[in-house]
Amino acid sequence: MLRRWGPDLGTAVFGLFLIQIVAGLVLSLRYQADLANAHDSVVQMHALPLWKFLAGFHYWSSAAIIAAAWICVLCLLWTGQYRWQTRAIWWCCCGLLLCAMAAQISGNLLPASQHDVRTAVAEAQIAGGSPIAGDAIRAAMLRGSEVSTATLGAWYFVHRFVVPAAALIIGTMLLAAKRGVSKSSLIWIAALGIGACAAAGVIGAPLGPKPQEFDFASGATRPMWYVLPLHALLSIASERTSGAGWIGSMLIPSLVVLCAVIAPWSSRRGSDSPPALGRLWALAIVVFVFLAYLSYGGRVQPIDREPLLSIPSASAPRQPAAIDLELARLGRSAFLKAGCMNCHKVDGEGSANTGPNLAGAGKRFSDRAWLVSMLKNPAAVGLSRMPSFGRLNAGQLNAIAEYVRSLK
Ligand code: HEC
Repeated sequence: MLRRWGPDLGTAVFGLFLIQIVAGLVLSLRYQADLANAHDSVVQMHALPLWKFLAGFHYWSSAAIIAAAWICVLCLLWTGQYRWQTRAIWWCCCGLLLCAMAAQISGNLLPASQHDVRTAVAEAQIAGGSPIAGDAIRAAMLRGSEVSTATLGAWYFVHRFVVPAAALIIGTMLLAAKRGVSKSSLIWIAALGIGACAAAGVIGAPLGPKPQEFDFASGATRPMWYVLPLHALLSIASERTSGAGWIGSMLIPSLVVLCAVIAPWSSRRGSDSPPALGRLWALAIVVFVFLAYLSYGGRVQPIDREPLLSIPSASAPRQPAAIDLELARLGRSAFLKAGCMNCHKVDGEGSANTGPNLAGAGKRFSDRAWLVSMLKNPAAVGLSRMPSFGRLNAGQLNAIAEYVRSLK
């Protein structure tokens, strides 16, 4: 049975993609792709029950596609259908999984709520953390240094044209390789579609608050459930060596994709042997995803898009204490020694882009005690990619906090 699940789910993913393209075309009638109006246009859409349902369906179908595409690929691995004879099906299904992720990631920005905008910045920072051409990648993804209408336009273009075109081509090739659509594919499409309708009716489409100026360059966000395994890889790498996050977030995923591409060659000869290699991979993926949720699941952004850390305006004293210049001076050397600049620039100083530029940070972070507790446990205040500095002693933390506070 599992032998048929893989290819059938692959076709179902393509079928859902077709439905999503139609739903997306309808939604685009009421959507405005400029940053000043995008969020308002979605708010207006949500005020009309039928449109709200459609937006919810589009959102939940996308989640169903990602889940189905992963299960499809795992079934193909388990049953050895990555091998030479079935290579077309294998490559097409892996391609559809990548399309599903690309559709979700590019589409996430479109409602342009606070979480969406910050997530786009975070993604650009993550990709921009790579040592080769990092700055150029980051600038290309944001079309500048922060989220703007140009960013939204580019991501909307990818979401509306590039990803659907790729999915159409790959899906058609899958149908050709499978020679048609089986009945169970149609059952999968119906089941997943009904699931998405139910979720759209019961939970609806999430929409967070409108972003403030600070959000467009912040990148302080919680990861969504579908990128949590990638987030875990990033965190594991950057907790070892700050600035090495790209090994987890870029290098390892690229190597996994490369392995998927060359997998069929692993069995060109002796193709009747049991798919031990594929089973090992499938088990490794399942175990890794399980462990990733176990260790980092608490960081996942809840569906309701609760407002994120709006930088401690609430905790900040109205009349911030004067800066202790001597302490700030000590703080600066502790800041350099602790490796903060492996990830942060300060104004024009430094070259790292993994985290936001800390120029002007003191305007938002005026409470030293808050900063100290943030440095001990950044994830607790929603800075999910920044490593903890709990290993520093109280004096060092205090001084670093004062230095950050002094960056006006
Ligand atoms: C491994 C990379 C890394 C290191 C090292 C690092 N940070 Fe960060 N930091 C980040 C990232 C990424 C963010 C963005 C928010 C998030 O974590 O999602 C951030 C956010 C921040 C923010 C909030 C800025 C804003 O505008 O939202 C402050 C303040 C900050 N870091 C200070 C520090 C200090 C001080 C140090 C050194 C003790 C440091 N960071 C070391 C990655 C790092």
